[in-house]
Amino acid sequence: MHLLIPAAGTGRRMGSHRNKLLLQVRSQPIIAWTLLAAQASEQISWIGIISQPHDWQDFKEIIADLQLTKPVKLIKGGSSRQESVYNGLLSLPANAEQVLIHDGARCLATPDLLNRCAEAICHCLGLIAAVPVKDTIKVVDENGIIQSTPERSQLWAAQTPQGFDVKLLKQCHGEGVAHGWEVTDDAALFEKCGYQVQIVQGEETNLKVTTPQDLAIAEFILNTRFDQK
Ligand code: CTP
Ligand code: MG
Repeated sequence: MHLLIPAAGTGRRMGSHRNKLLLQVRSQPIIAWTLLAAQASEQISWIGIISQPHDWQDFKEIIADLQLTKPVKLIKGGSSRQESVYNGLLSLPANAEQVLIHDGARCLATPDLLNRCAEAICHCLGLIAAVPVKDTIKVVDENGIIQSTPERSQLWAAQTPQGFDVKLLKQCHGEGVAHGWEVTDDAALFEKCGYQVQIVQGEETNLKVTTPQDLAIAEFILNTRFDQK
């Protein structure tokens, strides 16, 4: 299974002066933890890291230090996540029929989750990892007034990995460019084009490291995982 890792962001909400994926958690850059999970997933056979060329030297050193045995390709990122993923899709080897897309910032996803998504995408056209929301979610207007309260049992929080049929997802990205759609995940493009997206049970610990607080939480989770006897 081919895996694309969007890693071309700037980390604005982290408030760091460089790509947040180069910040360290438990003595390893965030992107290194993501790559270690990909390396440990038996289902993943090829890794594409979508990133800005000014980070390539750092990424190359991290890849070398990890001694990954799987082929890794660096792919030029775009100005939005959506554009980055499209670049990634266009850089996949010709034999890639399905693809998993997994955010570099979700460095706590387990190899088991990657494996389960890789297996599931062989039986459907589109899927995402997701977990049921725990909070009651409100739809609020621009004046801060609640408009509605969707039934919580129908609400799921989207994560990555997200998996797709490559030909269809390329087509959906093309439609997105043609119509000027701006989305925050690939499933949204798939949905807009009328294709079904299946839910795969995600992981509560699979958070997206976004703010400085998330760095502390990620460190805590990794410590509980790796300090266990
Ligand atoms: N990403 C990307 N290309 C972009 C923007 C984001 O590949 N132009 C990647 C990020 O590197 C990250 C993932 O998409 O792994 C999810 O994005 P997010 O958590 O929003 O990261 P950033 O965009 O870097 O953070 P921020 O939005 O706070 O600037
Ligand atoms: Mg972003």
